[in-house]
Amino acid sequence: NNYFKIAVLPGDGIGPEVVNESVKILKVIGEVFHYNFQFMYGLMGAEAIYQTGDPLPESTLKICKDSDAVLFGAIGDPSFDDNPDAKVRPEQGLLKLRKELGLFANIRPLKTYSSLIEKSPLKKDIIEGTDIQIFRELVSGIYFGEKFTDEEGAYAYDVCKYSREDIVPIVHMAFQEAQKRKKKVTLIDKANVLDTSRLWRKICKEVAEEYPDVQLDFMFVDNAAMQLILNPKQFDVIVTENMFGDIISDEASVIGGSIGLLPSASIGNTNALFEPIHGSYPQAKGKGIANPIASILSTAMMLDHLQLEQAANKLRESVEYAIENKYVTVDLNADQPYSTSEVGGFIADYIKFSEKSYYN
Ligand code: IPM
Ligand code: MN
Repeated sequence: NNYFKIAVLPGDGIGPEVVNESVKILKVIGEVFHYNFQFMYGLMGAEAIYQTGDPLPESTLKICKDSDAVLFGAIGDPSFDDNPDAKVRPEQGLLKLRKELGLFANIRPLKTYSSLIEKSPLKKDIIEGTDIQIFRELVSGIYFGEKFTDEEGAYAYDVCKYSREDIVPIVHMAFQEAQKRKKKVTLIDKANVLDTSRLWRKICKEVAEEYPDVQLDFMFVDNAAMQLILNPKQFDVIVTENMFGDIISDEASVIGGSIGLLPSASIGNTNALFEPIHGSYPQAKGKGIANPIASILSTAMMLDHLQLEQAANKLRESVEYAIENKYVTVDLNADQPYSTSEVGGFIADYIKFSEKSYYN
């Protein structure tokens, strides 16, 4: 099969700019490797609210459900953040999409690039050689529990709920990944305080029995926040609940030198979505300065998911080539910055000219 339906949701802020580079590159990959990608565009987020009143219009959901993979940019708009009374928020679109598509596992890989090691505010000795795979549960927990704010605005609550069915599948995924790596899984939780965390621990121990070759560790999230920047090399695979995963993955991004580099894959049983872990960076919108690499590496994860390993590896190779040769945006090279589309174009050209098949 070489025909793939890709749903493209550019979203808000810099989302459209970075996704544009990914689409540009996918078109080149299609030519070079003889794949036929069909792109179907949909609205989501603030842009969708402005145009339709709904952060996730029905038509967008349908495009995504019909797709082989969803490529998503970013979500969020400051005009909503400053307004606590807003009834609809852009983020609701993404949360609903994750839930509707059943994207229970959000995978966030993290590694250092030797040419960028100086970019991290952390010391070289500490971060060099870090290679972590974070598995964040994505469709349960406090994000999706009952929420309430009383009329007077005097109190509010958010319920954090987990069931066995929410936890088991992602824990298996984490263990299976660890088997291909350094054979260590760390559950990050707050089991000294939270019942949901104690359930996670219990289930992790049970699942671990099926993977005797993998070591299972537990770490409280407050300590993990510290350990991640004190000694990140101690981690291999991390598995954690929704909100802890959100927080520690942003923290961990500091290790790689720029949050503009970090991709993610959100996987369910029938659908998959690929997005950078960075947000919509509204201050940079339209300026052509946003780093497209997180989106481009998310595209590489998408190619992996579609079992197009050769193309995925070629794409990662070209990103590494761009980084090693300082063909990067201002966040990574303030002295001689390239624009968003120059970086994307460079990567696209590298793929074209380094693949002999292009000339055949
Ligand atoms: C992320 C984002 C989202 C989240 C927001 C935009 C709802 O921060 O993907 O990490 O909190 O999951
Ligand atoms: Mn986040």
